[in-house]
Amino acid sequence: MSGLQAIRYTRGKLEVLDQLRLPHEHHYDDVATSEEAFDCIKAMRVRGAPAIAIVAALAHGVELHKGACKASTATETISYIDSRLDYLKESRPTAVDLTNAITHLKSVVRAVETSTLEQAAAKSAVIDAYIAAAEEIFRKDTETNLRIGEHGSKWLLDNAPVKSPEGKISVLTHCNTGSLATSGHGTALGIIRSLHSAGNLYHAFCTETRPYNQGSRLTAFELVYECMPATLITDSMAGALFATKKAERYISAVIVGADRVVRNGDTANKVGTYALAVLARYHGIKFIVAAPTTSIDLQTTTGADIKIEERKPEELTQISGAVVGSNGKVDISRVARVATAHQEIGVWNPAFDVTPAELIDAVVTEKGVVVKSENGAFDFRDIMPERW
Ligand code: MRU
Repeated sequence: MSGLQAIRYTRGKLEVLDQLRLPHEHHYDDVATSEEAFDCIKAMRVRGAPAIAIVAALAHGVELHKGACKASTATETISYIDSRLDYLKESRPTAVDLTNAITHLKSVVRAVETSTLEQAAAKSAVIDAYIAAAEEIFRKDTETNLRIGEHGSKWLLDNAPVKSPEGKISVLTHCNTGSLATSGHGTALGIIRSLHSAGNLYHAFCTETRPYNQGSRLTAFELVYECMPATLITDSMAGALFATKKAERYISAVIVGADRVVRNGDTANKVGTYALAVLARYHGIKFIVAAPTTSIDLQTTTGADIKIEERKPEELTQISGAVVGSNGKVDISRVARVATAHQEIGVWNPAFDVTPAELIDAVVTEKGVVVKSENGAFDFRDIMPERW
């Protein structure tokens, strides 16, 4: 597993790697309250659906551990926890992992049997149960991702339309779905990692992922960090890449993560995903969504009902970067924000788009790979009978 860690946690202390400073600086912020977690998520110092949920859950655990809850009874403690979680839920709207984590945490605290306990003990029992459940979400995420890596790499090796002469696979990924977006290993990037560690990766391409550049700033960083054979392209080069079928440029699959997979398989993910899915279908390239079951939303029927977050114009009209000196070397002590467009131009900046299920070949979860049934629909009943 990678040594890169977006989230460092021990009981009572949560540190979050500031992804706005990557790849130039490796700086961890202490996140000790719900307000700090809200800001950190909203500003995208931490991002990626699983990481957002983990940081929100653990940050509230840290403030509970430090005595932030002044309630006396178990019932009041549960109301306090509910209100903090409801507040955190508003930090980013599209990724469903946060909502699913909150629903789970609320049900855990309600299941604590407190009727035989005196008041202070009842309050402690609720808080202890919350903290244990938040820590379990963090711990389980890496295990989940390792399973996704196993299932996804096996499925790809069995179903790739083309391989290198040695039987290896080349893929393209979008955005960042690796260790930086999760507690470790990653989802779509986790599959690439698993292919690589088993000697089955020929080449990985990553898109720049405008406007926030998760691909060039974060995925490229992870790929270089782990010495994987990899190439960066701009988002607009994907079509040219798919059309140029030579050696490592003969792509078998596009592998992406998800912020929300709804009941029929429609998938919200980083803006640009939909265009890649259309291109992949045209070129006979498999299109795979890698998502833990915590990213699946069975309450929403189709992608038309997904709320898509719109972000501020400056993400398109300005960019941050480290200054390159006249010797051609990057000076990481000089990070600057520069304008890349007229500052008065109107801007539309949706953070995500929705890829229709018909363009998706497989959804890889920790519980197995789901492919479309004969009627062309995804059916998650077998892997999620308890939530169906
Ligand atoms: O805006 P971001 O960076 O949070 O968007 C991230 C993505 O779209 C990821 O693909 C998704 O959250 C899955 S991360 C395992």
